[in-house]
Amino acid sequence: MKNRSFVTIAEHSKEKILYLLKMAEEFEQRPNRKILDGKVVATLFFEPSTRTRLSFETAVNRLGGRIIGFSDASTTSSTKGETLKDTILMVSNYADLIVMRHYLEGAARYASEIAPIPIINAGDGANQHPSQTMLDLYSIYKTQGTLENLNIYMVGDLKYGRTVHSLLMAMRHFNPTFHFIAPKELKMPEEYKLYCQQNGIKFVEHEDFNEDVIAGADILYMTRVQKERFTDLMEYERVKDVYILKAEMLRKAKENMRILHPLPRVNEIAYDVDENPHAYYIQQARNGLFARQAIICDVLGITLDEIRL
Ligand code: CP
Repeated sequence: MKNRSFVTIAEHSKEKILYLLKMAEEFEQRPNRKILDGKVVATLFFEPSTRTRLSFETAVNRLGGRIIGFSDASTTSSTKGETLKDTILMVSNYADLIVMRHYLEGAARYASEIAPIPIINAGDGANQHPSQTMLDLYSIYKTQGTLENLNIYMVGDLKYGRTVHSLLMAMRHFNPTFHFIAPKELKMPEEYKLYCQQNGIKFVEHEDFNEDVIAGADILYMTRVQKERFTDLMEYERVKDVYILKAEMLRKAKENMRILHPLPRVNEIAYDVDENPHAYYIQQARNGLFARQAIICDVLGITLDEIRL
């Protein structure tokens, strides 16, 4: 059987992405459908999570499947020295699908190569977060009415923020113009800028973040500075509050501009932005439920026609 794992967005075509968005739309209209009856999904979270784990688990519950797993790896036999390989093979004995978050880059790819069941990457280190990308794309599509020709401003930790890496790759199909706004220490890594160059993606880099910069954005994608990825905490302290979005900075924003953030937020969006009509990050997280229902069905080989039955 073809391995239907969902490990990186880079390997998915434009048609496939649009197909998954259609599925998400279908689930938003009716999230409760008993199409996973008899299926068991394992959620293995080796790193903390609120949204990703709970929205995957809600997705399975609303589709009539069952959940096993852990949200704290310290309660598992990995603390006794069990390898990731053995953990994956054991869980494959019990479940039909594994959703895994792991602190090591490449862990999801590795798991997908050894597991007899599909793996969904729920975030691997600073590398990729492809299910977040699907909900980001769905949120962009819902708010802008298109994915094509948009000005997407990514702000904050572009070095360690895996969500911006995945989103950048997915957008290669849609002729975006990216603006990367980061301090020197957290700039978009060279490998992703090279990816842009190789795929004809336009980008500009800035360090300034103010209302004149924001005025050009269709999507303002804020990110948290990823404290857990720093080896030098002094460096984290230096950069953690370098960009803070405040409501007063939105005066010149385009009317339909929307602010996204994968969340959790720490200090990078002031609370006075929450009531602003440009704020969309809470609804964005809700979209995760529908996008993840689509991904789960797809990796299990359930088609759009079948979910419409
Ligand atoms: N966006 C995201 O991955 O959030 P969690 O870490 O809470 O899952």
